[in-house]
Amino acid sequence: MYMNFEDQLKDFSSQVLFNANFGKLSPFKNIIISGMGGSGIAGSIFSELYDKAPVQVVSDYELPAYADRDTLFVGISYSGNTEETVSVTREAMKRKCQIRLVTSGGELSELGPETVLVPKGFQPRAALGYLIKPFLNSFITSDPKVYERISSMMSEMETDNSMEKATADKIYGKNSIPYVLGYPPFRWVAYRWKTQFNENSKLLAFSSYFPELDHNDAIPFKHTYGKDKFSFIVFGGSTGQIEKRVRFTSEITSTEFITVEPKGETILEKMFYLIHAGDYTSYHLGKLRKIDPEDVSVITELKEKLKS
Ligand code: PA5
Repeated sequence: MYMNFEDQLKDFSSQVLFNANFGKLSPFKNIIISGMGGSGIAGSIFSELYDKAPVQVVSDYELPAYADRDTLFVGISYSGNTEETVSVTREAMKRKCQIRLVTSGGELSELGPETVLVPKGFQPRAALGYLIKPFLNSFITSDPKVYERISSMMSEMETDNSMEKATADKIYGKNSIPYVLGYPPFRWVAYRWKTQFNENSKLLAFSSYFPELDHNDAIPFKHTYGKDKFSFIVFGGSTGQIEKRVRFTSEITSTEFITVEPKGETILEKMFYLIHAGDYTSYHLGKLRKIDPEDVSVITELKEKLKS
């Protein structure tokens, strides 16, 4: 059954209750995650939360040389047909990695390794809850109470997203390009905002993160031409040196930051809140631009052409 894009966005609060995990795992020395775009971001966001073993996210056709029997390999592709992910998964099978897959079907689901099947009918970027939960349940926490709290916070935003609409109004009012500034552990959340602006708002967008950006981006914040063409969005809630860096960077470079304050107490609560705020901001911006936030026909056309 077709679900319109707004309903797909609204499903996120239910998706965080998805209780699938990777099952019993043999010991491993490293984790390699293969995935592209709206699927791969699940692996990247997880990689910033987990530090008990090295995690590498591969957004390419090639499996790193070190991958072997001691590697836990996770292939994620919502459609199951993304050629980069299928190619790297086949190679991981040859190298005898311990394999888990996350997909809604397609070629990936026919390869054989143990698979978490997620529901069909979504755009990959609107299925992030389903795609990331197997990682969180297996490696961070599977406590249902944690996710119930997150789910109820997210459903509040799904009922009233006027704050996200106001951020979209600001960006649109200036006819500007979004430039999203994160900080650990939300560097990949900032990148997720960038990709949501790309796909839902059909806009060029950029992301960077503190403290690294103070060693490069901060210089053009002061000196670039065309600065009025950007809207700089920063995640609130930083503390210590990062909080000072946000303040001083804005002051020294005379750059106005739009601050998005995360709600919640824990890292997971803030993370999901910020992710969803990016979903709604980019969605409203697409609507203001009178384009279809769901349409990704450029990606589809590229994938079709590559098959020939
Ligand atoms: O958001 C999108 O639609 C894309 O970024 C896709 O996620 C990307 O092309 C990869 O496809 P899939 O998620 O089906 O592997």
